[in-house]
Amino acid sequence: MSRPARGRFITLEGGEGAGKSTQARLLAAALAARGLPVLRTREPGGSPGAEAIRGLLLGQAVARWDSVAECMLHFAARREHVQASIRPALEAGIWVVCDRFADSTYAYQCHGQGVPRAVFQALSEVALEGLRPDLTLVLDLPVERGLGRATARGDTNRYEALGAGFHAKVREAFLAIAAAEPERCALVDASQPLEAVTAALLRALNARLPA
Ligand code: TYD
Repeated sequence: MSRPARGRFITLEGGEGAGKSTQARLLAAALAARGLPVLRTREPGGSPGAEAIRGLLLGQAVARWDSVAECMLHFAARREHVQASIRPALEAGIWVVCDRFADSTYAYQCHGQGVPRAVFQALSEVALEGLRPDLTLVLDLPVERGLGRATARGDTNRYEALGAGFHAKVREAFLAIAAAEPERCALVDASQPLEAVTAALLRALNARLPA
């Protein structure tokens, strides 16, 4: 029997309250409607080992970790997630829609928390062994709006507590990534109504990864 064509790897990125989880669900449904097998997943987490690390990263005091150690924990979770879930799915021909991936570590840990880029690059090489998203959808939203939405939902993880200055740096980083890698990334204005954001994401998807 011939092997199935490799699945495609799609990531959603952006700051707090940008609506990534809802849009990931809608995107996965749109792909399924194209008749494609889809795995929807998230980071930190997405596999049993990575979900255990998520508990360490999101709970308790803001200053819990040394920032490089924290970056290593994100990559430990990611390696586990890639090995246990993402790579096997792609190899089986399944399309993977992932809510956050390595760009979040670059934005939050490097730009936000000051981890050197060289650390990020070294850990990326070890953890990902060359795996790269086929398409990254970057949802952009003014910081105050995003934090307002996250607070209204009752989200209280360590990162949301870091304040508007931190989240402004995170937003800048995502915009810089989208500008630096236009062939991989599509930037979408997430301040539009939900349906308009979904439509923009589907336009980007259909243009970059046609049926
Ligand atoms: P989550 O509750 O999943 O929030 P969101 O809906 O905003 O994705 O929490 C994930 C948090 O972890 C979020 O605040 C961003 C942060 N994070 C990092 O700091 N680095 C990373 O590499 C990842 C994947 C997430």
